[in-house]
Amino acid sequence: MRTKIVGHGFFVPENIVTNFDLEKIMDTSNEWIVERSGIHERRFIVPDGDVSTSDLAVKASQKALEMAGLKADDIDLIIAATLSPDFFFPGIGVLIQSKLACKAIPAFDLRQQCCGFIYGLQMADLFIKSGVYKTILLVGAEVQSPGLDKTTRGRDISVLFGDGAGAFILQNSDDGSDILGSKLYSDGRYYDQLWLEYPLTKKTGRISCEDIEAGRHHPKMNGRNVFRHAITKIPEVVFEILKEHQLTVQDIAMVVPHQANQRITEAVAQRLGLPMEKVYSNIAKYGNTTAATVPIAFHEAWEAGLFKRGDLVVTTSFGSGFTWGANLIRY
Ligand code: UT7
Repeated sequence: MRTKIVGHGFFVPENIVTNFDLEKIMDTSNEWIVERSGIHERRFIVPDGDVSTSDLAVKASQKALEMAGLKADDIDLIIAATLSPDFFFPGIGVLIQSKLACKAIPAFDLRQQCCGFIYGLQMADLFIKSGVYKTILLVGAEVQSPGLDKTTRGRDISVLFGDGAGAFILQNSDDGSDILGSKLYSDGRYYDQLWLEYPLTKKTGRISCEDIEAGRHHPKMNGRNVFRHAITKIPEVVFEILKEHQLTVQDIAMVVPHQANQRITEAVAQRLGLPMEKVYSNIAKYGNTTAATVPIAFHEAWEAGLFKRGDLVVTTSFGSGFTWGANLIRY
């Protein structure tokens, strides 16, 4: 059994928010954001409108289905990676199932933050190879924007994130395409280095007015520590998966990394000994869309002709948890 990515696609909201727009609402500058992160603009949904995470996921899924030449009814499992589900519960998997009008199938959410898609790809691969499911929809989707602290207090994190979704359709195939392997890791000692603490499950009412005033319902990050770990762990896991398959970086057509910071991507390329042309980056346009960065970047790199059927591609990520990992794909 082999696992083929038979379709992929993405969707981002139309609403572009530039660094200059952020300058108007907090003490930041286009210069700082570009220099420290490489981000020029990101997409935000229209707040308080009728579009949420599952809607972005549905649009991305429809594009992936179209490329695969399949219908929603062909899907027999949905895996949805997100840290920003429409509701606290249920997750977006079931909402996607209903909005796509799929038949009654299993659908679940994966809470692995920036690594959600990397984790989901291993699960999808093993489900296909075990023969349990034949056609899997794997989606990464996020609506971060309404939850960010868009004041100077939250500027270190809120300038980095954006909204978006990306999707893969996976099926069994014998034409040479395959997910050759995945390596996944976590180290929960660092759970509070990039997290959203509130609403807090054990607390009566989950959140108080004081908690909101203190901004505890906004994500928080120890940026320097996350940065340091990301530029170490990503190259480590990429080298590891290549070694396991008796390959070197020279065999790889494209590395598609999580888009967290242009400086992280450049450090990863340098540590891997690869030119930037072989390590895809689109952070300038979308910022960090968390679980959606990898499928969005994957689709864009393919669309730009940077890899084709038969080529080897590595997808890799590092993020909250800490979690990190890589997938080795014969596209
Ligand atoms: O997707 C999950 C993974 N996430 C990541 O991988 C993100 C990892 N971390 C990073 O990308 C970087 O650490 C940041 C982009 C978050 C920050 O870059 P940095 O070079 O580590 O800056 P810093 O946090 O050390 O802050 C430098 C200065 C500080 O001022 P002082 O203390 O030197 O006076 C900050 O207060 O920049 C200040 N600063 C800002 N200034 C203008 C922080 N945020 C901003 C801002 N605009 N938005």
